[in-house]
Amino acid sequence: LCVKKAPKPNEPPSPGWMPLVGSLPYMKNNLASQMLEGFPNSPLVTLYYGLEPVYILNNFEAFDEAMMKQGQRFIGRPVRVLQKPTLGSDGGIVSTEGELWREYRRFSLKTLRDFGFGRQGGEEIILREAGELCEAIDSTPAGQALSTTDLLSPAVSNVICQLVFGARTATEDPRFPKLLDMFQSLTQRRAARHMNIMLGANYKYFEQFGFLAKLILLRPERRRVIHLSRQLLQFCKEQVAKHKGDADMQSEPRDYIDAHLQHQTNLESDRIFNDLRLAMAIRDLFVAGTDTTSNTLRWGILYMIENPDVAEKVFEEIRVNVGTERMPTMKDKGSLHYTVAVLEEVQRLGTLVPMGVAHRCVEDSVICGYRIPADSVVVPNIYGIHRDPRVFPEPEKFKPERYLEAEGRFSPNESVVPFGSGKRACLGESLARMELFVFFTRLMQRYRFGLDPVERRSIGEIKDNAENHGGGIRAPAEHKIVFTPR
Ligand code: HEM
Repeated sequence: LCVKKAPKPNEPPSPGWMPLVGSLPYMKNNLASQMLEGFPNSPLVTLYYGLEPVYILNNFEAFDEAMMKQGQRFIGRPVRVLQKPTLGSDGGIVSTEGELWREYRRFSLKTLRDFGFGRQGGEEIILREAGELCEAIDSTPAGQALSTTDLLSPAVSNVICQLVFGARTATEDPRFPKLLDMFQSLTQRRAARHMNIMLGANYKYFEQFGFLAKLILLRPERRRVIHLSRQLLQFCKEQVAKHKGDADMQSEPRDYIDAHLQHQTNLESDRIFNDLRLAMAIRDLFVAGTDTTSNTLRWGILYMIENPDVAEKVFEEIRVNVGTERMPTMKDKGSLHYTVAVLEEVQRLGTLVPMGVAHRCVEDSVICGYRIPADSVVVPNIYGIHRDPRVFPEPEKFKPERYLEAEGRFSPNESVVPFGSGKRACLGESLARMELFVFFTRLMQRYRFGLDPVERRSIGEIKDNAENHGGGIRAPAEHKIVFTPR
């Protein structure tokens, strides 16, 4: 039954195919590196998720052509067959399309800007959280190792909490630690990622034959993904209800929820904006914005332990340009070229979202000479783009010099695309970049990092987790770090 399906003319190569299950038996845990290594010269690769092909954009040329040059054609998301039946509505930002997506994306970008992310203002919130983070580290006995997840997830979540709820809910609400676990389950589970692509690619069959979707949900880990998603939505609904009780429609909005409620009242009809969709949008901001940012910082710390010379150069640059007392702020970015290059290299090697978020091609298209029929699912291989040896010689090496001009100025490489690019690029990019810069520079200014001597695990073992779990997000294994004050 195993078939190495010979590609038809104008069809990208595929690792293999079997009737009904498609390429699933040929997919390895680390699909992204499998595509990079198995098809180094192919801009596109076809994977059959069940009956339908899914096209992988396997290098920067294909990615750029689809996301930027022909962005309008790849603006869709695969239909979420289960969203309506399981969650009660279409909504949110990550998985919607058309007017609903456009209106929510526009509103969310504007609200983020109004609260100061992307400009100054919101930075105050991040600086305060960076201060609290250092206080938490300083208050533990010298030499005690700390979990970077327990430290960084609440710090990062608190920033979004203040933007959305107007309060530091991550450390103030006793239910929050459980919610943080839920984000991780939703973003790091292999079951969630494959289920979404499978349902999206084959949505026609699932719509016609509803029992097929139910079959997919027979697997307990998939039912758990739906259950977690509902629980998270319930929490967001409660926050909306609380705001409805005490929001003042005449005053300046305190947060995203207030801004939304005011926007709803100002509109003549609520065809697009409503309370349930507000809760879904908040859920998306949390799921998309928490684990990604906190795990990038966790990678940053690990790479600094692995490359102590780089860490010392970063510290030296901060010491000379900022000093050792004052907290670095976004204004310092222009003088910290080496540090910015280090963060860029952390994002390239960390590649938090190795296969981005799936897009739907909305009309017949041609990418790098291959025909992509309308309605196909297209997935970028960001991991492969970030490790393409033609663009990044010795791709596994941590080399911030890749982004430095002769006189030491930072110069970005267009192939570093951790946030995707084009019309559906990450909505939180400015906020995330601000958080990464402020948290990372403050930690670098204050501490040396070391692995927990009690755990006796090597960096390699901690990093390996990311290569093996195959979920939506590339996270290092759980580990503890000793922070030694400088
Ligand atoms: C989408 C990466 C932080 C909100 C995305 C996408 C990527 C990404 C790769 C998919 C782009 C595409 O479909 O082509 C990251 C990384 C982050 C980060 C690496 C941190 C280092 C954030 C934050 C927020 C956020 C802080 C929220 C405040 C979103 C949303 C989308 C998205 C709402 C969906 C956009 C849409 O469909 O129109 N992100 N993200 N992200 N991200 Fe982020």
